Amino acid sequence: MIKDFKATKYILQSVYTGKQFNDEGWTLDAPNETKPTLIRAIYNKKQIEVKEVSAGIYRFADWLPIHRTLKGSSAPVTYKSEGLAKHLGLNNLYITFSGYWPEKGAKFPTCSFKETEAYSVCGRLSANEKKVLVVASAGNTARAFAHVCSDNNIPLLLCVPEDNLNALWFNKPINDCVKLVVTKSGSDYFDAIHLSNLACQLDNFFAEGGAKNVARRDGMGTTVLSAVNEIGKIPDYYFQAIGSGTGAIAAWESNLRLIDDGRFGRNKMKLMVSQNKPFVPIHDAWKADSREMLHLDDNLARTQVEEIIAKVLSNRKPPYPIIGGLYDAMKDAGGDVLLANNDELQKASKIFEETEGNDIHPASAVATATLIDAIKNGLVQKDDLIMLNITGGGENKFKRENEIFYLKPKHVFEITPDLETVKEVLDQLF
Ligand SMILES: Cc1ncc(COP(=O)(O)O)c(C=O)c1O
Repeated sequence: MIKDFKATKYILQSVYTGKQFNDEGWTLDAPNETKPTLIRAIYNKKQIEVKEVSAGIYRFADWLPIHRTLKGSSAPVTYKSEGLAKHLGLNNLYITFSGYWPEKGAKFPTCSFKETEAYSVCGRLSANEKKVLVVASAGNTARAFAHVCSDNNIPLLLCVPEDNLNALWFNKPINDCVKLVVTKSGSDYFDAIHLSNLACQLDNFFAEGGAKNVARRDGMGTTVLSAVNEIGKIPDYYFQAIGSGTGAIAAWESNLRLIDDGRFGRNKMKLMVSQNKPFVPIHDAWKADSREMLHLDDNLARTQVEEIIAKVLSNRKPPYPIIGGLYDAMKDAGGDVLLANNDELQKASKIFEETEGNDIHPASAVATATLIDAIKNGLVQKDDLIMLNITGGGENKFKRENEIFYLKPKHVFEITPDLETVKEVLDQLF
């Protein structure tokens, strides 16, 4: 039976069938449905009441599927661009910044929008949860979860490829409730995912869930809530670099809620998502008008990923085909998949720093490069209302201003370990 909607704050819904059901704590899939579909949170409150800045990400708590708030968060900051806008000849360019830029009010110590996910996902966790949350990542997601769990005493198992250890930097030592294990040098993100899947077969561990987790998507959707709260209107265009595309799905879902809210317009932002050449599998599927991802040879994919500078954009199995996923989002909202090569992203990064005054992550530079290109090609016009989602930045600034500590692994696994070995090691760690 569905619980009293008002008392529960939100219920869940299958995008495919529209059926509604309760969140049993960590529901990731529609019960008794076999066709792969995302599920969505339907919030009791149709008109969002944005709280004060001091609430951090929880300013947007009305539209987050959380049961508690955690300490230390910061919300994305949106401001009207002057420098970059002038350089590009744009009259209505808004920048949403998730990273470190205290002068603008952005205080993400891990410097990327993955922190919005982590504060939302961990806020969905019950304070009495005894099992260990498992997260696999090659970079920004791992750093964000480690930071949030460390500060809030939440047990976390992080699975990362050994070659990505340099992504695990922090401005203070990490609490022992966070345990890092790695797959040995030569392995990649997919090997780390394999390890995390093994861990999740053990009784004491459970998967965070990635794009299927409504808390992850609605956390990322706060970038759009920040923009619309600042602008007062739903933008015409949304620019973001994607690996999985979860951020763009989240942007679309926030947009739909904002239309229902009724105060910000009825338009759907065109989703101008971008990838780093030559690794462009979402682009290829979209241009082929295919819901399925096209076949991509594993070795070719690895070589392409080695080449790209924006390594975080290297997801080979994005939630693109799934019902309610990126393909559906782009078909519904409109938009395009744009591309930038390494040279273009480096130039865009320099232009951003010179015109706006802060460094940005390579992924954000991909989004900026494609905006520059879109203006040249007449894809967007000078008066269009544009949201540029700067998903990571201020890392150089942060590292200049802080002492940096690295998280060390508790165990180095073989590239594809067996379940017995994983169980033995994890039994000792937790
Ligand atoms: C800084 C940054 N930007 C963009 C992305 C792409 O995010 P997604 O494709 O999950 O929306 C990532 C993913 O890790 C990231 O770290």
